Amino acid sequence: MATIIEPESDFSALPDLPPEVYTAPLRKPAHLGEDWVEPKQTKYSSEDDAIWDDLFARQMEVLPGRAASAFLQGLDKLALGQGGVPEFGKMSEDLGALTGWSVVPVPMLIPDHVFFWHLANRRFPAGNFIRTRETFDYIQEPDVFHDVFGHVPMLTDPVYADYMQEYGRAGWKAMRHNRLKALGALYWYTVEFGLVLEEGALRAYGAGILSGPTEIVFALDAKSPNRIMLNVDRVMRTDYVIDDLQPTYFVIESFEDLYHQTVERDFDRLYRSLSPAFTYANSAVIDVDDVLHRGTQEYLQRGGRGSGAKPV
Ligand SMILES: [Fe+2]
Repeated sequence: MATIIEPESDFSALPDLPPEVYTAPLRKPAHLGEDWVEPKQTKYSSEDDAIWDDLFARQMEVLPGRAASAFLQGLDKLALGQGGVPEFGKMSEDLGALTGWSVVPVPMLIPDHVFFWHLANRRFPAGNFIRTRETFDYIQEPDVFHDVFGHVPMLTDPVYADYMQEYGRAGWKAMRHNRLKALGALYWYTVEFGLVLEEGALRAYGAGILSGPTEIVFALDAKSPNRIMLNVDRVMRTDYVIDDLQPTYFVIESFEDLYHQTVERDFDRLYRSLSPAFTYANSAVIDVDDVLHRGTQEYLQRGGRGSGAKPV
């Protein structure tokens, strides 16, 4: 079986990246080590805790019956709705007992190779701040609500937990092949905006959908977006939208399906066949697609976010 990683790869230490590998010029705060992990979780104020509670309550009005059952079970198992921003030590203890993962606080977006390194070691880096009332509906930089509420419950699912670790291992390979953009598209269309079939019904498991108020209804029910069965070769060639609702969602049959399609692939071969730029537009439907719903793209054509277009 071909695997996504070289068997001899050692993930215990940060990789030495060859000089030709591009890394984003992020400036590390002086008090942090090479892992970018904050020595302590922020001490959240009572107003911060109230923001968490209000965000939590708002999501729970739309998620039951729409979120993947693994996600809803994960919320329960980790008791993330107990009031206030969860304490990472206790949450990591509970998560560790289930799947061996932990959650570590980081100040902001961290460099790709450091992010991959944490995932490869079953550590999920989560923002060490929470949004304000002014940015309640939408923030671009992932905060503790997006990272913990959106991502962490899925890590209680054993197969998904393995997928995330393998994704981290695959990251270094993508960097060496200079194909990070393609692997980023896979993350986007699975971890952030993925849909899964449960007994024939669509459910969301992507954190970008689950942590926001409007996208879950749009992703599952609207006429505008395409819904297409996941095909890794196709997805890694597909552009995506960062700051608006997605024109296309990709659907998996199960988390085992996702694991097999990715981890059991020969990614060396795939990377060699990929061009550096994306081949397909984010709204494209192509010949090989197994299409569940061909979108009207009405929302996008009317101008999307900021235009007043309804997410229909
Ligand atoms: Fe995220």
